Amino acid sequence: MEYEAKNFEHLIGMNGLSEKLLRNHFTLYQGYVTNFNKLDQILQGMEKEGKFGTPEFTELNRRLGWEFNGMRLHEYYFGNLTKESQSIDAQSPLLAAIVTEFGSYEMWDKDFKAMSAMRGIGWVILYHDPLAKRLFNVWINEHDAGHFAGATPLVVMDVFEHAYITDYGINRKEYIEKIMTSLDWTVIMQRFSNIIN
Ligand SMILES: [Fe+2]
Repeated sequence: MEYEAKNFEHLIGMNGLSEKLLRNHFTLYQGYVTNFNKLDQILQGMEKEGKFGTPEFTELNRRLGWEFNGMRLHEYYFGNLTKESQSIDAQSPLLAAIVTEFGSYEMWDKDFKAMSAMRGIGWVILYHDPLAKRLFNVWINEHDAGHFAGATPLVVMDVFEHAYITDYGINRKEYIEKIMTSLDWTVIMQRFSNIIN
C-alpha cells in the first residue's frame, strides 16, 4: 500500500506564513511521500530478487528512514498548526504533565523556543515517553537521527530554512514566535490523550 500525501491547504491564509511559503513547503513534503513510496517499491523488488548485500541495497535501506521521517514529521508539523488563535486548556492533562516536567508552561515554552533557535537545521519535538511517563523537548538534527525510540511526538516544529526563509529571511526567532502562537492545541492535546487513555 502506497502512502498518500495529506492535504494541508486549509492552512493557507494563516497568520505568519505566506501562501507562497506554504505551497512550496507542501511541495517539499509531497516529495518525501513520493520518494518514500519509490524507495519502498525498489526495495521490495530487490528483496524479491534476492539482491541482498549489494551497495544499492544497503544505501537505499539507509535512506528509507530519512524519507519516512521527512514525510511523517511534516504531517505532525502541518497537523499542529492552525489559523485560529488558541491556547492550551488550563484543565488539560497535558498542561498538568508539562507543569510536572518543566515547572510551568512558561518554562516549557521558553525551553522549546530556545531549542528551536539553536544553530543548525532540523526539528524540535515535544516528545512523550510512555514508559517513564515523561516529556522531553528533543532536538532532531536531521529527520533520521536523534529520535527517542517508542516516544510519541506531541508538538513538532520545523526549523529547516525552507520553513521560514521566504518570509523571514534569517530571522528565525520571529518565525518561531509566530508558530508558537499558531499551534493547534486541540490537536496536540488529542495526541496526548490518545496515548494516555
Ligand atoms: Fe520542512
